[in-house]
Amino acid sequence: MKLFIIFVTLAAACAAQKCRGTFFNNKYYSMEVLKEGLNRVKQMVYSKNENSVYFIYDQGGLIYSGGAGYYNLDNYQAGFFMGIRNATSFTVDDKKNRLYIGSADGLYAVTDRNLPEKFPINEPILSLYFKDDLYFTNIRRKVYKFDLDGVKMVPEMRYDFADDIVIDDDNNLFFLKDKKVFRLKLNTGSPAFEVTDFPVNVMTMDVDDKLYIATNDGIFLYNRYKYALDKISNLRNVKALAFDKRWDPVYIVFDLLVRLKNPVECYEDEDSFFKR
Ligand SMILES: *[C@@H]1O[C@H](CO)[C@@H](O)[C@H](O)[C@H]1NC(C)=O
Repeated sequence: MKLFIIFVTLAAACAAQKCRGTFFNNKYYSMEVLKEGLNRVKQMVYSKNENSVYFIYDQGGLIYSGGAGYYNLDNYQAGFFMGIRNATSFTVDDKKNRLYIGSADGLYAVTDRNLPEKFPINEPILSLYFKDDLYFTNIRRKVYKFDLDGVKMVPEMRYDFADDIVIDDDNNLFFLKDKKVFRLKLNTGSPAFEVTDFPVNVMTMDVDDKLYIATNDGIFLYNRYKYALDKISNLRNVKALAFDKRWDPVYIVFDLLVRLKNPVECYEDEDSFFKR
């Protein structure tokens, strides 16, 4: 048994000599802890214009109450938005440089760093996603679209429920329901297909609208041509994940905000990575 352990350690050390760091999507990164003490983070998004992440965390107290916080990746300044009761989610409209905040009181918008402005949705919001228009789920887990015409239920989701939603540039709506991911094509009337049959903690998209899924067992990338999931990292228990403008991952694990930086391409064969 002892010999076996030594052998495994040596093998890992040899591989690490070739490629050092945290493995993520075929690259090795160095890890930078940006901030500690972020309690029970629920969700995080990235804003390209501000080069900042925005996240929902527990403000503390007897019952969970969501605070809306931010961290600027240029100047390392952190802060939070005051006066928003029980925040639940963020989404960003990069074109308008507008940030939307969902909360127990409904919807707020922050445009060009001004003070949060109340928008005309007054029911509690569970999750938000911006893709050309604003989509949200309410407390009953129903999915709606909010545009110039007002609020309309997404017809394909009339009989279904969602805890979280994301939409890609090909009109695919991915939704998280009871920790599983489903996909449906908007405006076609087609039914939803199961994407995962295992528990998922977080669903997120990068700037190229690729879908990433974080689980207790690592991170997977959705291949929309093969309808398959490829495991791209062994990072476990990631609670929130976003990508900055250089496509580098920023994530929350335990109570830490972490950035992966200085990626190195490394051609160690992938099989040995997953056997390790
Ligand atoms: C905040 O909302 C969550 C559900 O999203 C709820 O469980 C919690 O009790 C709320 N907290 C307060 C202080 O209203």
